[in-house]
Amino acid sequence: MGPNGGGKSTLVRLLNGLLKPDSGAVRVLGLDPAEKPFEVRRRLGVLFQDPDNNLVAPFVEDDVAFGLENLGVRREEMRERVKKAIRDVGLEGFERREPHTLSGGEKQRVALAGILAVEPDVLVLDEPTAMLDAEGRREVLDRIRKLRRTKTILHVTHHLEEVLDADRILVLNGGRLVADVSPERLVLDAGLLRENRLALPPVLRISHELGLGFCRTPEDLARAILQKAAKRAELR
Ligand SMILES: Nc1ncnc2c1ncn2[C@@H]1O[C@H](COP(=O)(O)OP(=O)(O)OP(=O)(O)O)[C@@H](O)[C@H]1O
Ligand SMILES: [Mg+2]
Repeated sequence: MGPNGGGKSTLVRLLNGLLKPDSGAVRVLGLDPAEKPFEVRRRLGVLFQDPDNNLVAPFVEDDVAFGLENLGVRREEMRERVKKAIRDVGLEGFERREPHTLSGGEKQRVALAGILAVEPDVLVLDEPTAMLDAEGRREVLDRIRKLRRTKTILHVTHHLEEVLDADRILVLNGGRLVADVSPERLVLDAGLLRENRLALPPVLRISHELGLGFCRTPEDLARAILQKAAKRAELR
C-alpha cells in the first residue's frame, strides 16, 4: 500500500525483471530477475496495473494459454486449465474475442485468467480489482483468498478493506519502505495512516466509534454489535 507515486508498481517491475535497480539487489526465490527473467517469471506471475500491458495474443483463449505453452503442459491438460481459468474470471463466451476489442475490466480478467492457469508459486497483483465491477471485484477477491492457502500473494491496493486479512502490510512512500506491520497494528496507527494517505474503511470507522475492536467485514461488525446489545440487555 501507499500513496500514488509511492513506488508500488516500480517494485512490481523490479520483481519481474522489467526494471533493473539503480542500487541494491533484487532476489526472487533466490534468483536475480534481471539475470534470469524467464526462470523468475515461471514461478512469479504478475498482473500489471495497466491492462494494455498484460495481453499479448490474438485471441482471448490464446492469451490465457500463453504462459502454459511456455511451460510445456500437455495439450489436453492445457485445454482443461484454460477453460477453468476463463470460467473462474467469468469470461465464458469470450474465448474467440480479440483482446483489443475488450473493455478495461474484461482485459484485466483475461490477464488474471492467464496467471491463474499457470498457478505460479508467487502471485503479484497490481491493483487487480481497480477496473472491475462490484460483483467482479468480490469474485476476484474470493479467488485470491482461496489461493492464499497454497501461494504467496503480493497484492497492491489502495483499499485497506481488501487486505485486512493479510499476514503483513508493507507501506511504500517516496520509494521507501516506511512500514511493515500487521493489519491490526496499521488500523490503530492514525499517524501512519495519515502520512501515507490511507483511509480506514467504513466498517472499521464504525467499529472504532462503538469501541468494538477489529472488525474485518460488515458481517463481523453486525455480529459484534448484536453481541454487545445482548450483553447490555442481560445486565439490565
Ligand atoms: N520510467 C520512469 N521514469 C521516470 N520516473 C518514473 C518511471 N516509472 C515510474 N516513475 C516515477 O516513480 C514514482 C513511483 O511510481 P510507481 O508507478 O511505482 O508508483 P505507484 O506506487 O505504483 O503509484 P500508483 O498508486 O499511482 O499506481 C513516481 O513518481 C513515478 O512518476
Ligand atoms: Mg502503481
